[in-house]
Amino acid sequence: MKLNIAVLPGDGIGPEVTNQAIKALKAIAIEFDHTFNFKQAPVGAIAIDKHNNPLPDSTLDLCKSTDAILFGAIGDPKYDNDPTAKVRPEQGLLKLRKELGLFANIRPVKAYDTLISKSPLKKNVIKDTDICIYRELTGGIYFGEKKLSDDGDTASDLCEYSRYEIERIAHLAFKSAQNRKKKVTLVDKANVLESSRLWRKVVGEVAKDYADVTLDFLFVDNAAMQMILNPKQFDVILTENMFGDIISDEASVIGGSIGLLASASVGEKYAMFEPIHGSYPQAKGKGIANPIASILSAAMLLDHFELFEESELIRKAVEKALKLHVTTPDINTKYHHVTTTKVGDFIEDVINNPNDSNLN
Ligand code: IPM
Ligand code: MN
Repeated sequence: MKLNIAVLPGDGIGPEVTNQAIKALKAIAIEFDHTFNFKQAPVGAIAIDKHNNPLPDSTLDLCKSTDAILFGAIGDPKYDNDPTAKVRPEQGLLKLRKELGLFANIRPVKAYDTLISKSPLKKNVIKDTDICIYRELTGGIYFGEKKLSDDGDTASDLCEYSRYEIERIAHLAFKSAQNRKKKVTLVDKANVLESSRLWRKVVGEVAKDYADVTLDFLFVDNAAMQMILNPKQFDVILTENMFGDIISDEASVIGGSIGLLASASVGEKYAMFEPIHGSYPQAKGKGIANPIASILSAAMLLDHFELFEESELIRKAVEKALKLHVTTPDINTKYHHVTTTKVGDFIEDVINNPNDSNLN
């Protein structure tokens, strides 16, 4: 298969982790005789520095002309502490999601047996957890009208959803549940928010098309508690934009590190693959950033094109790295000097020699 892949490394640790994902994809291309072409473009703080625009037109054009996008991370502390900044790195990512219509963000969360002791949560609570979060990505409070009064003392963000926006992601969540444990949990705040009540109504209607899937509902505050009390109860979680953002960071504690969580953002036409972590500026250039989230995002990219044997090989290589402690310090208490690049090299090596190694 021939794939043109736009690479948007972004800020902080974005470039270093994305490089490892590219290495894994290049190794896969050789092993399975595919042609993957990579083209890089700036986004985020780095693009503001160069072009005064977090999403230059040339970057957006490149994304629209490729088959898939590999995204690194976005954000820079110099903007975080300046509430008056008009241009922010995050706008680049949000605009990209909106312009490409990436309405569904899929975030798998699982407890790896080899990492079970890395989580601060008890073993018996997290063992065998396997959740897939469907986060709505182009609507809600992130994109509603924003207001700041003239005197600067009153501000508001509108949370708005339409039936159509809810239906399209609900269908994806139910379809995914059909291939999993056949359960969808809608996370909302329907006891308070009108938009959540619309979610309940519409999702309840969509559920009728999927008789084999059970639907249940949880208020987001309770869901936040259940996520660490008894995460095994979840299969597919369906939720709106901001609740999904928050719940998925919380869920990353189950796996032992946010540096492990990958995601796919999909729409009708385009697809982008990105780790769920941020730009982790404190770690930039130190070789301590965990590249696995980015490498697993590359595996999700391969899944998207139904290259399942290929994605499976990446996942097996990752599991082997975890098992042998070829991991960065966030999850490695045994060996302290395994760098970002070393993890990438190891995974590349396993992919290059799939038969030499015992992958199980
Ligand atoms: C994420 C990030 C983004 C979000 C930020 C960087 C805008 O936290 O992808 O989860 O809030 O969606
Ligand atoms: Mn987030």
